[in-house]
Formats: sequence, structure tokens, C-alpha cells
Amino acid sequence: MTHKIAVLPGDGTGPEVVAEGIKVLNAIAGPAGLKFEFIHYDLGGERYKRTGEILPDSVLKELRGFRSIYLGAIGHPDVKPGILEKGLLLRLRFELDQYINLRPVILYPGVYTPLRDKGPEDINFVVVRENTEGLYAGAGGVLKYGTPDEVAVQESINTRKGVDRCLKYAFELTRKRNKNKKLTLVGKTNVLTFAFDLWERAFHAMAQSYPDIATDYAHVDATCMWMVKNPEWFDVLVTDNMFGDIITDLGAMIQGGMGIAAGGNINPEGVSMFEPIGGSAPKYTGKNIINPLAAIAAAQMLLDHLGEVKAAAGIEEAIKTVCAKHLKSLQAGKMGYSTSEVGDLVAQYAIDNLK
Ligand code: IPM
Ligand code: MN
Repeated sequence: MTHKIAVLPGDGTGPEVVAEGIKVLNAIAGPAGLKFEFIHYDLGGERYKRTGEILPDSVLKELRGFRSIYLGAIGHPDVKPGILEKGLLLRLRFELDQYINLRPVILYPGVYTPLRDKGPEDINFVVVRENTEGLYAGAGGVLKYGTPDEVAVQESINTRKGVDRCLKYAFELTRKRNKNKKLTLVGKTNVLTFAFDLWERAFHAMAQSYPDIATDYAHVDATCMWMVKNPEWFDVLVTDNMFGDIITDLGAMIQGGMGIAAGGNINPEGVSMFEPIGGSAPKYTGKNIINPLAAIAAAQMLLDHLGEVKAAAGIEEAIKTVCAKHLKSLQAGKMGYSTSEVGDLVAQYAIDNLK
């Protein structure tokens, strides 16, 4: 069976890191008994500058025909911030109804964490971020723009349906993950007394159907504190779009940085999109020094989502080996290897793991 994957390399270092992910997928195809077909789409800052197009309807229509999209990075130094992010990344998430943003925070052996007394046994959790609602929904507006009486309103949209489907995914994942079987709702019930009241009621109602899952609640500010002080307390965290955005940057830092952090924009019934969660890193572009591990980890998540669990595990083990035995640092330019050499190493170990 052939897996057809849409590839959006995007801007900056996106194309370089995506190339390494594809290298690894192609390398394991034989040993894992898989076939891949990659269909590239030229979207991003360069295309926008050239043609004014961000996400043409015809491309969106084609993308709806895939199960998986592999995305590099979005963001161009010559394009005003917000245009590509909203017009491409967020639009894809919304149009394809990718209502889960899945972000594992796992510290691999040998990887530097700024948390001095914590190690791989302490940092191993997953954040389930709602990905289509909240403050990202774009509700709000301005009055009296540019005058001293200006009013700006940005509303957080939380629907029972949207919250429920996110919670369901999180409960199921907690069960499947089978670590501590603990799901923590992250919110701000003491201030956002409308939005998180809905989340909290929905959370407790759904918990009734999951007697095997221990439930917990933490305010988002306290969560930031615990992620630094006691990350071992967490197993699966579920939260809204904005809080999920913020805490997963913190998560990325404690797992070794943007060089390793990957995520999936998931529509369990539709088209899902996997990406390294860091940006396009313009200053490193074209230098062959950016760390491709986050993009390779995104490819691994993509495979896992397609049900190719064994192949995905082979890649994850290879990433771990490369971290433990080779890389001096996960930071761009400090790895001791070039971007393509890191891709070669992962590919070789992954082949060995899957033979
Ligand atoms: C992320 C990014 C995006 C977000 C930006 C680029 C719109 O920060 O994927 O976390 O806020 O979701
Ligand atoms: Mn973010």
C-alpha cells in the first residue's frame, strides 16, 4: 500500500529540514515494507511575494484529498507577521478541521535540558491543545480604529462540541498511552469563569466514562511553574488553543529546544498535518546547520498516525540513538554535524532498527 503525502516545505529552513524527513522515510520504506509518494506544494513567503497567492482554493481542494500533510515552516522576513501565519498555517488548521494539536514533550537520553536536576525519567508528557477555537477563532473587532477612543475586542470561542471532541481525544490518548493514566485539565477557572467553567463541567462529565483515568486540574500559570519544578507530575495535559500554544513553547525548551520539538495538527476523521513546531529560522537558512530532528520527529508522528506504528518506533529509536551517541548539542550550528549528516545518521539507524 502506498502512502501519498502532501509536502509543504514552506519558508526559511523548512525545505532543508523537510528534505531530511523525506530522506528518512525513503530510507525505511524498503525495510519497513512501505511505499511513499510525495507530492510537493510550493506555498509560503516566496510564492506570496511572487504571485500574491497564499493558499489558492485549488490547492486547498487538492490537499483535502490526502490523509497526511508534511509541513516545514511558515514565516518570511519580508512578509508582515500574521499574513502567512493566518493565511496559510491557521487557515489549513481551520479548513481541514484539525481540532487537535498534539505536542509530545519527551526528553531523550543525552539531550541537554535547562532543568538541572531533571532527566528523561522526569520529562515525558503530552500536551493536547485544542486547535480550532478559543482566541484563535478570530472573533472580535475594532471600533474607532486609530483614535484615542479605540476599542479592540478579541473573543475566546469555546463550543461544547469543540471542547468535548478535544477532551475525548485526550481521554482516549491517556488510556492508550498507559503511563500514569492521568489527565490534567489546564485552564484558568479563577478568572475565565465562562470559558473554563464550560471546560471544567465537560471534563468532569466525560471523566465518568473513563473510570480508569485519574483526572486533575491545574491553572495555566501554575502549570508553567510545575513544568519547571515537577514535570514528572504530568502524563497528558489538555487545554485550550492559546494556553496550549504558550505552554508547548515552554515544553519544547525543557525537552531540548526547537531542534527536537514536533507536533501534529490532527483531524482524526480527516486530513492531518505534521510539523516541527519551531519557526522558519531565516538566519540559518541555506547553511546546512539547522537541526532536522524536529522535522524527522514530525515524520515519525505522521507515520504513527497512519498506523505504521512499527516504522514510527524504528525512527524514534534512531532519533534517540543519534541524540545519545552523536550530537554535541541540539542547537543549530552546534550539533557537531551538518543538517544532512544528521539526516543520514537517523536514516542509517532507522534502517538497522527495521531490518
Ligand atoms: C505554533 C505557532 C503558531 C500558533 C503561529 C505561527 C500562528 O506559534 O504552531 O505554535 O500560534 O499556533
Ligand atoms: Mn506557538
